[in-house]
Amino acid sequence: MLYDYPEYYEAAFSFRNTETEAQFLQDCIKRFSKIDVQNIFEIGCGNAPHAGILTESGYKYHGLDLNRNMLDYAAYKWKDLPEKIHLHEANMIDFNYPIQQDFAYVMLGSLYLNCLNEIKSHFDSMSRLLNKGGIYFLDWCIQFGDPLAHNGNNKFIIEKDDIRIKSEFNIKLLDQEQQMYEEVWMINVNDRGRHRQFNMVERNKAILPEQFLHLIGERKDFKFIGWWEDWDFNHPIENYDSVTRPIALIQKV
Ligand SMILES: C[S@@+](CC[C@H](N)C(=O)[O-])C[C@H]1O[C@@H](n2cnc3c(N)ncnc32)[C@H](O)[C@@H]1O
Repeated sequence: MLYDYPEYYEAAFSFRNTETEAQFLQDCIKRFSKIDVQNIFEIGCGNAPHAGILTESGYKYHGLDLNRNMLDYAAYKWKDLPEKIHLHEANMIDFNYPIQQDFAYVMLGSLYLNCLNEIKSHFDSMSRLLNKGGIYFLDWCIQFGDPLAHNGNNKFIIEKDDIRIKSEFNIKLLDQEQQMYEEVWMINVNDRGRHRQFNMVERNKAILPEQFLHLIGERKDFKFIGWWEDWDFNHPIENYDSVTRPIALIQKV
């Protein structure tokens, strides 16, 4: 499992600009939050890539993940920050956390929920977690287009600190009616001459746009704020067919 090797995970995703991402989260808070934000919570935080910048910007960072290696890696990496970060080992499906939060986010479609009950249970947990007015930012979690459309084009090679990663990602439809997909991610690592291979298979239920609106619409504890294409608030999603990287915002009421 790649997540057991956070250094390789970090290398595989080193093409990202986590500073820009963290800045975007702060812009989002400025633009939409009606409450003062002090505590920020990341679902599926992994190596907590934004913890440094958010903490240096004055926020208290909290992350939840079920992988101990990822959490240990994050704790070690950010051990010298002026403010301690808070890491919680739990399953996102159903959790309780002792400190209420003002803003929460999940990146890279990291909602690992396999059926409607798990989806509902997750949003119940988020509802307990967030203060009234708190926003939940979801990156790439709503399935607008056909997930199979990019199969064959998801190969890349990346190098960081002498670790070379060859990665290929493909998606299979398992159950059309339930919108269940299997994501198969093959990673070859050359770690300074030492070779390793990871084949990760993850099952996920896609959340379609209408389903998401219905799910949030029928809850009394959240309201839908909006969704935008490619992290661009000037580009609200209107045409579902052309969406590649959606973000969605909901708010605890
Ligand atoms: C793609 S990584 C995202 C890491 C980080 N948020 C980022 O932006 O790079 C997904 C993370 O979700 C975690 N994860 C997977 N299933 C989970 C679950 N059911 N509950 C909590 N965390 C989970 C994995 O351990 C992994 O660290």
